[in-house]
Amino acid sequence: MPSRPEPIVALDLPTFESARTIVSQLGARANFYKVGLQLFAAEGPRVVDWLHAEGKRVFLDLKLHDIPTTVRRAAESSRALDVALLTVHGLGGEQMVRAAVEGAGGETGILVVTILTSMDAAEAGAALGKPLRGLEEEVLRLAGMARASGAHGVVCGGAECAAVLADAGAPLRVLVPGIRLTGEGADDQVRMTTPSEASRAGAAYVVLGRAVTRATDPGAAYERAVAALS
Ligand code: C5P
Repeated sequence: MPSRPEPIVALDLPTFESARTIVSQLGARANFYKVGLQLFAAEGPRVVDWLHAEGKRVFLDLKLHDIPTTVRRAAESSRALDVALLTVHGLGGEQMVRAAVEGAGGETGILVVTILTSMDAAEAGAALGKPLRGLEEEVLRLAGMARASGAHGVVCGGAECAAVLADAGAPLRVLVPGIRLTGEGADDQVRMTTPSEASRAGAAYVVLGRAVTRATDPGAAYERAVAALS
């Protein structure tokens, strides 16, 4: 049996104050947080430093996609912030992913985003300029590249997680976003997964975003999601 995925709460929020409110509502229950583009652009590294001072681990979800030298330097800067995980886009290519892994230096794990969970096969095919029969083939191709490049893991939908692990296999870890508790709205996600599906598929991490941060009682929503992971 795969071990239970580690839950990471996405602080997709506009300000330090709003992030601080969620972190204090969750208290000792949650120890791993995702800082993404919105909060990092607004508040910068101080939010990462604050989370570390609170004893939390940080996943910096910057989804880097640039020339290899720029990505290597950004990974070096992220490593200097002591973040546990950092994302880059697989579509940036193997040289770029290798540069990220070098810049992160083994202390910060590089996660390679395969195909965003907000996309279905038609939209991904349109973005890639080629018709896709399904998403899985493309996700597996990018996961194979991630593994060959020495990345810590990949980001993909829950539906592709088991196939990635069977195909690319250990030591690649899988992070599944787009988690929804049963009966919840999709927002802009099209490839949603429940916590128990992600768990059964062998995910190493799940990202809990609006399912927790938009709940009337974030603490209760977090507890419900975490209970469903076991
Ligand atoms: O609120 P929700 O649960 O949809 O948030 C999902 C989070 O996971 C967002 O912060 C989004 O940036 C991130 N993510 C994603 N799909 C990916 C990679 C990351 O939704 N492929």
